[in-house]
Amino acid sequence: MERKFTPLFRLWHWLMAFSVFGLLFTVLLRETFLDKKSVAAIVRQKLETFGIAIDPDQAIALAKAIRAPMWEWHYIFAVVLGVSIALRIWLMVSKQAQLPVLKVLEAESFHEKIKATIHLLLCFTIAMLALSGAFYYFHEALGFEKEAIHWVKEVHEFLLQPLLLFVTLHIAGVVRHEMTTEEAIVSRMIHGDTVR
Ligand code: HEM
Ligand code: HEM
Repeated sequence: MERKFTPLFRLWHWLMAFSVFGLLFTVLLRETFLDKKSVAAIVRQKLETFGIAIDPDQAIALAKAIRAPMWEWHYIFAVVLGVSIALRIWLMVSKQAQLPVLKVLEAESFHEKIKATIHLLLCFTIAMLALSGAFYYFHEALGFEKEAIHWVKEVHEFLLQPLLLFVTLHIAGVVRHEMTTEEAIVSRMIHGDTVR
């Protein structure tokens, strides 16, 4: 068996998976329990029972303040994602990992091509998410007005959908591979090529 799941390669994979799941979790919280409109409604309702009336804008401001510490984690996981991307680039430069597009071109069977294409689309979507997110985050330092680059935020938000699709296809493919072959692919990605 060709040795390819080196410790550094596995570290890259799980660091990236950990950060992507973390980022998705912060988005899930922002869209559900900590959605600013729902939290604002709860705050207004509760304050009314104490005899305090606030207007909707004040309620939204309070809701955003309650959400802020959770959303900080979007940026903390973003840094972990940045580290994992830097690690992958280094692995490719030092020839310890392939450029995803080369894997597609060099795939020998149809099945290999499909797998490599999903990996390529997954890597591309994550790279675009990281670029658009970082660009939006640093827009002031880069000299752009928030209004002028609103489209960047829209692209960033839109990319959530392809990401969910490719992550789901990736995990489904890995589970299928695990269940239909003797390769113990998930074990190899956890403890390396030598199955103990
Ligand atoms: C959001 C989370 C994840 C991301 C972004 C991700 C990303 C990737 C990428 C880009 C590759 C291709 C690496 C290469 O050969 O260059 C890969 C391979 C792999 N991933 Fe994931 N992964 C994620 C989650 C998972 C999970 C949860 C599992 C285990 C259930 C898993 C198991 C594997 C395995 C076994 C491979 C090797 C596949 C092969 O070469 O046949 N991944 N992953
Ligand atoms: C897997 C990767 C990522 C996913 C799935 C993701 C997803 C999202 C989504 C869905 C939103 C919109 C939230 C909303 O308005 O309801 C958002 C906002 C944002 N994300 Fe990401 N993101 C990712 C990575 C990053 C990275 C790497 C950065 C870099 C710093 C970043 C920075 C931002 C910023 C600045 C916002 C705007 C926040 C605001 O307007 O309050 N994201 N992200």
